[in-house]
Amino acid sequence: MNTNSDLLRIEELRYTWPGESRPVLDIGEFTIGRGERLFLRGPSGSGKSTLLGAIAGLVRPDHGRILFDRTDLGSLSNAARDRFRAEQLGVIFQQFNLLPWLDVRANVTLPCRFSRSRARRAGNVAAAADHLLDAMDLAPELRAKRADELSVGQQQRVAAARALIGKPQLVLADEPTSALDSDRRQAFIELLFSQVEAAGSALLFVSHDPDLARDFDREVSLPTINRAGVAA
Ligand SMILES: Nc1ncnc2c1ncn2[C@@H]1O[C@H](COP(=O)(O)OP(=O)(O)O)[C@@H](O)[C@H]1O
Ligand SMILES: [Mg+2]
Repeated sequence: MNTNSDLLRIEELRYTWPGESRPVLDIGEFTIGRGERLFLRGPSGSGKSTLLGAIAGLVRPDHGRILFDRTDLGSLSNAARDRFRAEQLGVIFQQFNLLPWLDVRANVTLPCRFSRSRARRAGNVAAAADHLLDAMDLAPELRAKRADELSVGQQQRVAAARALIGKPQLVLADEPTSALDSDRRQAFIELLFSQVEAAGSALLFVSHDPDLARDFDREVSLPTINRAGVAA
């Protein structure tokens, strides 16, 4: 394996939630290439969200290493890990996690407020937000509205624009399509792909719906890469 091309490399990762007797994650090796579009599936409860949390530095492994661009996340201080997340990751959470009291544009530009390098990569931040919202097909008249005034499908596209602003190296998407009808799911994935490609970002897309996997570069299942093999 050409490790130089890996954007993310996980080695011997183990994690047990407090109070649990068995690890939810026990992964020997897992990698994501630069610009790779990876589909991660697995039944509910198999640890997909926990794995994303570990990659985002929100869950600290009990054992093993997570290397991002050859930096060991475990070696970073809390402040440095927060900075890493703001600079390098775009995250679309299962529940979108928009800030409801902010308008759409302020939600999209938020990562650029947390990271100067992200803002620099975005260039003109307001124009970059509008460009992404255009690409995500969100009507201009919606952009001054509060996030909680939008439909679920609209909020999801705002969350995607927020994840993509300032060209993060990796976009994590945790079942972002679960609230959508199946025809809208495919359309959303196509929008996401075109924008991930434009930004040069890798994409780790989590879903338990195997029908969505077909256009990805690679598909992995968490029970397969996980030695713990937690039965859901
Ligand atoms: N905050 C938490 N505290 C304790 N256990 C948790 C927490 N989050 C998830 N778990 C447990 O970890 C396991 C995997 O959960 P999760 O990563 O959310 O799975 P998935 O995203 O694949 O549905 C489940 O058994 C769940 O109960
Ligand atoms: Mg989950």
